[in-house]
Amino acid sequence: MENNVVTTMPRIGEKAPAFKAVTTQGEIDFPKQYEGSWVILFSHPADFTPVCTSEFMAFATLQDKFEELNCKLVGLSVDGLYSHIAWLRTIKEKIEYKGMKNVEVKFPLIEDISMNVASKYGMIQPGESNTQAVRAVFVIDPKGIVRTVLYYPLSLGRNFDELYRIVVALKTADEFKVATPADWRPGDELIVPTAGSCGVAQERVENKDLKCYDWFFCTKNIDETTIMDKIKK
Ligand code: BEZ
Repeated sequence: MENNVVTTMPRIGEKAPAFKAVTTQGEIDFPKQYEGSWVILFSHPADFTPVCTSEFMAFATLQDKFEELNCKLVGLSVDGLYSHIAWLRTIKEKIEYKGMKNVEVKFPLIEDISMNVASKYGMIQPGESNTQAVRAVFVIDPKGIVRTVLYYPLSLGRNFDELYRIVVALKTADEFKVATPADWRPGDELIVPTAGSCGVAQERVENKDLKCYDWFFCTKNIDETTIMDKIKK
């Protein structure tokens, strides 16, 4: 049978596609209801599967740290609501993994049997599966703009410390008008925007507050406490 579902893939800088959906925490109106907060919308292939279980336990355990950044979490799979509820109850009541136990998933998990949301967010990637969502991640800012997009295959569990680092780095870049170099962590040097002209570049090289590796590559230091104080809500 022909599949008439239109798939789109949100891109960085675009408005997050809107939808209403039923979740384990009631109905949501996305991204409208999250205006003023950062939000991570993420998909997983299926309930009652091991990689997904390990991911949900990891994410639920970090939820308070994301809350401190004013960042909400919203999960999705193409399973139904009763499956979601039963799976999350099993995680809480039965699974002890890597020191995590009694883990309660308090963030909403969207039911998407119709694949309406999965299609809008490019989560169904037929090279991987026609019937399950890949492990997609969308980091969306308080204005509802997509700021980071990640897609992982079914077999690869995500790194949740990296998702936390992404939100910290995006907020730091916004607040301090900087960019973050490879493997950046708060407290590491930050990159100041590239000079627009030769004269400005020379001024930058002579600026004692900056460290310049060359005219196009200058950094400055902002300590971790200053950054975290500014980006925590
Ligand atoms: C898992 O979560 O373990 C999984 C789900 C779908 C395909 C492969 C692995």
